[in-house]
Amino acid sequence: MKGREKIAALTAYDYPTARLLDECGVPLLLVGDSLGMVVLGYPDTTHVTMQEMLHHTRAVARACPGALIVADLPFGSYETPGAGVANARRLVEAGAEAVKAEGGRAIAGQARAIVDAGIPFMGHLGMLPQHVREEGGYHIKGKSDEERDALHHDADALEAAGVFAIVLELVAPPVARELTARMAVPTIGIGSGADCDGQILVTSDLFGTSPGRIPRHVQPSRLGDAMRAAVAAWKAGL
Ligand code: KIV
Repeated sequence: MKGREKIAALTAYDYPTARLLDECGVPLLLVGDSLGMVVLGYPDTTHVTMQEMLHHTRAVARACPGALIVADLPFGSYETPGAGVANARRLVEAGAEAVKAEGGRAIAGQARAIVDAGIPFMGHLGMLPQHVREEGGYHIKGKSDEERDALHHDADALEAAGVFAIVLELVAPPVARELTARMAVPTIGIGSGADCDGQILVTSDLFGTSPGRIPRHVQPSRLGDAMRAAVAAWKAGL
């Protein structure tokens, strides 16, 4: 789809949402570890376990979407190439068709081993939510020359490892534009400007139903308000 049409990607963590998004023709569904915050009530994604990822991947896979199902390798599940391959295989057995993990040069060995095992791999650069505790928050990456150069080197390492796409999260838009122009594989942006090959959002942020703060790059719908109004109307009519 690179260069032909914008790639729409959304997160899905359960069967009904996967069905709805598939009916809408979304071509890529990510069982993201963001489910830790928006479904399971954790403070960040570092608490999400492999068991939880498998449970939600199975639920999404039961919807048999036409969309490509990508599942996140959770925190601590890809410390070595061997562990990455073993856990990627478990996600595939649960119904994922591809996996995603966070990092560039630091995990290029894991990415290559997973691709060599026959499992399509999606990269994730920029702000890496699994590192939020070290980083002390969710900050834009690529504002300094040093960060810009690091992003280019990381993207090159992932491309050489054989990834089929790279998520760019909170990357300074001029750097996201440069990477998109330079790379053969598609970039899927989130909070990284309009010039990526595609865009991904956490679906409950888009719906306006996320329990926490909705990030600035999302213009949420009023679905959360509609749900509250439905409950209030039902209660009032008892
Ligand atoms: O877990 C997730 O939802 C993600 C997206 C934000 C890209 O990784």
